[in-house]
Amino acid sequence: MMIAYPDRLDLAQTPTPLQALDRLTDQLRSDIKSSTDCAVRCPRIWIKRDDQTGSLTSGNKVRKLEFLLAEALAQGCGTVITSGGVQSNHCRAVAVLGAQLGLKVHLLLRSDIEPQPVGNLLIDQLVGATISHYSQQEFRQLGNLFEYWQQHYTNQGSKAYSIPTGGSSGTGLWGYIAAAQELQNDFLREQISPSYIIHATGSGGTQAGLTMGFNLLNSAIQVEGYAVCDDRAYFERKVKEDIKHWSKQYAQPVLIDKLKIVTHDQYVGPDYGKAGPEVFESIKQLAALEGIILDPVYTGKAFRGMVEEIRQGRYSDASDIVFVHTGGLFGLLAQQQQLNY
Ligand SMILES: Cc1ncc(COP(=O)(O)O)c(C=O)c1O
Repeated sequence: MMIAYPDRLDLAQTPTPLQALDRLTDQLRSDIKSSTDCAVRCPRIWIKRDDQTGSLTSGNKVRKLEFLLAEALAQGCGTVITSGGVQSNHCRAVAVLGAQLGLKVHLLLRSDIEPQPVGNLLIDQLVGATISHYSQQEFRQLGNLFEYWQQHYTNQGSKAYSIPTGGSSGTGLWGYIAAAQELQNDFLREQISPSYIIHATGSGGTQAGLTMGFNLLNSAIQVEGYAVCDDRAYFERKVKEDIKHWSKQYAQPVLIDKLKIVTHDQYVGPDYGKAGPEVFESIKQLAALEGIILDPVYTGKAFRGMVEEIRQGRYSDASDIVFVHTGGLFGLLAQQQQLNY
């Protein structure tokens, strides 16, 4: 099917590689054989390397920002305002791309403690973003904070473009609609027909884009988000809300209630941004086995969740499954002491 995309900047290094994780698959198959019942089968596990969309812009956000920043420039905005946690990968990607495109970037960051200039925050500072820190309590009024700063820049004669947390909006959705099309080409090239696409879900935009993208392609593949915060009901609502915005904004009719939105919320762990020792263990194992590094906030939690579900037989019906590596390396560097080296 021909998908008609809106204006887009060429910012992400795409297509990203799709790789088979054969050493991991073999190891899991042999673990399963020796420990569980023989009805459990481990599919071949593939990884879509969206951690390689760029060095400083690595991760899933740059795909969304190709469309969001194109819209900002088309609207004649000189400033971009966005928000997130203090170690937000999204905010870092906006800060870097702002510097590359000559846009002023203002980040509204959430933190209850004095933040250390490490990981993503260090990059935000290096590329010259203006940063306002707010407590969790203050962040409850995020809409007002956006309005305040929007007005501030209007008063200064600079039009500002606001991007919601995580870049998840009707416009941002296009990023992972395009990624679904890229994945379909990967499958044709590799001659595989995966049954599931698995990824970490935080603000819901990647999940909404992939779900909508594969729906537009009439694919039977099931997209499954592994939550890193909130719960299943939240993502059911949020993903539908993003798709509704997209559908209205671009006059694309969608039978929203027919979409199957699947979220696993049992691997969130202690809290958003906090992971238990089992997640750090999974990060170490995959790094040593395959030379691929996950992060503790997003991809490590989701990957560990996927492996648990494989062991429990959830994906026994599939010959192949794909994990989307959505980036996050700078977030790992901000928690390096938890690796206990
Ligand atoms: C590394 C990483 N993976 C996954 C996600 C989740 O993506 P989304 O916000 O689209 O749900 C994020 C979002 O911040 C992220 O930074």
